[in-house]
Amino acid sequence: PTVALIGAPTDIGAGARGASMGPEAMRVAGIQPALEAHGLTVVDRGNLIGPANPWQPPTDGYRHLPEVTAWNRSVHEAVYAELAQGNLPVLLGGDHCLAIGSISAVARHCREQGKKLRVLWLDAHADFNTSQLTPSGNIHGMPVACLSGHGPQELIEIGGHVPAISPKWVRQIGIRSVDPGEKRFVHQQDLEVFDMRFIDEMGMRHAMELALATLDANTHLHVSFDVDFLEPEIAPGVGTTVNGGPTYREAQLCMEMIADTGRMASLDLMELNPAYDVKNRTAVVALDLIESLFGKSTLMRKGH
Ligand code: ARG
Ligand code: MN
Ligand code: MN
Ligand code: MN
Repeated sequence: PTVALIGAPTDIGAGARGASMGPEAMRVAGIQPALEAHGLTVVDRGNLIGPANPWQPPTDGYRHLPEVTAWNRSVHEAVYAELAQGNLPVLLGGDHCLAIGSISAVARHCREQGKKLRVLWLDAHADFNTSQLTPSGNIHGMPVACLSGHGPQELIEIGGHVPAISPKWVRQIGIRSVDPGEKRFVHQQDLEVFDMRFIDEMGMRHAMELALATLDANTHLHVSFDVDFLEPEIAPGVGTTVNGGPTYREAQLCMEMIADTGRMASLDLMELNPAYDVKNRTAVVALDLIESLFGKSTLMRKGH
């Protein structure tokens, strides 16, 4: 399929400014020519437009809810339109609240096409807060909960079907920062989390084997890649770094194992924040990993 790049230049759901510059940082790193060099057809749809960041404190547990809603509606329509044309949308964030728009669009497409959906959530955080549980009010800490039907009406109904997804369809990898109330909610809702302790003990290979175990020929695999998934030493360009993430090699293996399934049909690249970066190196690392996601490998791959 044609890869469609969609820029969503906003930090509306974040607690730090600057993820709004993420899409341009990926273009500067050369995402389009890099993917084209692997034989992919790539179109850049440019940037979506949405409200400015008013930088206000939370009201009723949510920061910038009307603006977050506007951005997510726009993301939803853009991602859905690409899927409807048979394209593979790559959402260039923007903060992770936009996964509500993106994944609700993927879920709507899968419902219509009778496809099974699996979501791989690569992140330091579970992003499973609600307005009651959040310590910050930042909606980028809430997308998985909203998609699962726990959140404000205007966000949970964006895809027209509530809930958009079941938490059973989600596999989280790399998690190492979960707030106290959020921890209980993750446990209650039975989210499948391969946290850093699991990866330390069992290895990335085993974690990914388990996370990818239920894919079949009819599965649409969505990858939601929050750049703070990575060890901050290699990826300082995010507003919410957490020590102790996957190394460069572990992250490469993760991406290569996803590529080997041949099932990835949509991707979010989120939270890249050039204001925290040094010489755009986080975008360069993210691009390296995305190339692997799209099948770049050192040697010929089996069956190719
Ligand atoms: N758990 C924290 C919060 O709710 C941090 C969330 C960070 N999320 C992210 N997508 N970077 O505020
Ligand atoms: Mn499709
Ligand atoms: Mn995160
Ligand atoms: Mn996140």
